[in-house]
Amino acid sequence: MQIGIDRIHFATASQAFDLKDLAEARSVDPDKYTIGIGQDKMSMAGEDEDIVTLGANAALPIVEGHEGSIDALLFATESSVDQSKSAGVHVHELLGLNSRCRVVELKHACYSGTAALQMAVGMVARNPKQSVLVIASDIARYELESPGESTQGCGAVAMLVKANPSILAIEPDSGLHTQDVMDFWRPNYSDTAMVDGKYSAKVYLDSLKHAWLHFQEVSGMVISDIQHFCYHLPFTKMAEKAHARLLKVNKTDHPKIESLKATLQYNRIVGNSYTASLYIGFCSLLDNAKEDLANQRVGFFSYGSGCVAEFFSGLIQPGYKERLLTESHQNALSARRTIDYPEYLALYKTQHHSDGQDFESRPMTQGQFRFSGIKDHKRLYERNESSEG
Ligand code: HMG
Repeated sequence: MQIGIDRIHFATASQAFDLKDLAEARSVDPDKYTIGIGQDKMSMAGEDEDIVTLGANAALPIVEGHEGSIDALLFATESSVDQSKSAGVHVHELLGLNSRCRVVELKHACYSGTAALQMAVGMVARNPKQSVLVIASDIARYELESPGESTQGCGAVAMLVKANPSILAIEPDSGLHTQDVMDFWRPNYSDTAMVDGKYSAKVYLDSLKHAWLHFQEVSGMVISDIQHFCYHLPFTKMAEKAHARLLKVNKTDHPKIESLKATLQYNRIVGNSYTASLYIGFCSLLDNAKEDLANQRVGFFSYGSGCVAEFFSGLIQPGYKERLLTESHQNALSARRTIDYPEYLALYKTQHHSDGQDFESRPMTQGQFRFSGIKDHKRLYERNESSEG
């Protein structure tokens, strides 16, 4: 029996900030961002957008009409809004899912989306009648004027995991690598990540090598068995470095780095979305590849700082194209409102609520759900009446 991704859809914020404007504000050559880092824009969450609304917006088109048949919702994030309650329970309510549903939040940096996906596969293997909704949702935030600032962004991806999936059958073997390192972390008292940027890129690349070697050992596959590669995407240049490293480890120059192009298109204008990033890259491949991907194998490299890494593979299913939500992705990306530097700064400052005060958000989102504010320490969510959908 095959198990994997039956539907996939992503959502991002309704605002975008151009990295050329950030470069001007920071007196940096814009080519450093657009060429050196490989990013053109970052999505910027509005006052009424957070990981819950992004996650619910990502999931809505794939659960609408099937609300009663979701058996579990696994919510992966490292931008948690509560230390106790799972963000998934807010999403469960917004989507109107069946109360006979298991909901939990998972964490390990950018890796937990993959942990959730593999756990979902395990749950379906145990009971093939089950449908498991995986949501990975994050807002990437660094200190203003730090090297990481240009790699911010946000987004959420939702994947429905079932037996006999329509889009991707996930293969059973995984290559793993875990090591206790401090390359990127966020202590409970900080609302931005601490990062040793250059070191994090080194650990990412070393982890890729170890996870790949383990994958080869357990699967018996060689690099030429894989037609497409999706890498975790903190910024698009990182995937190019990763692929170059993989080619070097395998002493080959094929498939060429240019073959990654379709996987990078969305992330280049969304920015880092931590747990969601790898899977937005997969959506980008599905939506933007010129060729028919049916029956082709995709290799996925998932990396979470700290660090946990996994390399796994999947086979794209015949007929996958009819199940894609390409138009929804492209419309949402092009409908984002471009913000200027003063608005970027203002939104950056209102994103986090650590003072315990009541808060009422101004309407900004074009999504179906909004975070309306905080009252008596409770986060409040509602349907967005002004959304066109
Ligand atoms: P930096 O140190 O300011 O940048 O920030 P740099 O000086 O290394 O320059 C970047 C690249 O631009 C270099 O290219 C320069 O040569 C080039 P490279 O040598 O790397 O090929 N450059 C130019 N190119 C063209 N025209 C120019 C120009 N100027 C320079 N004029 C850094 C870079 C990645 C360190 C920073 O953005 C950062 O700290 N980012 C956050 C950490 C990160 O994303 N790490 C990636 C690996 S870890 C990971 O992926 C996990 C993560 O997602 C978190 C999680 O798991 O939860 C982050």
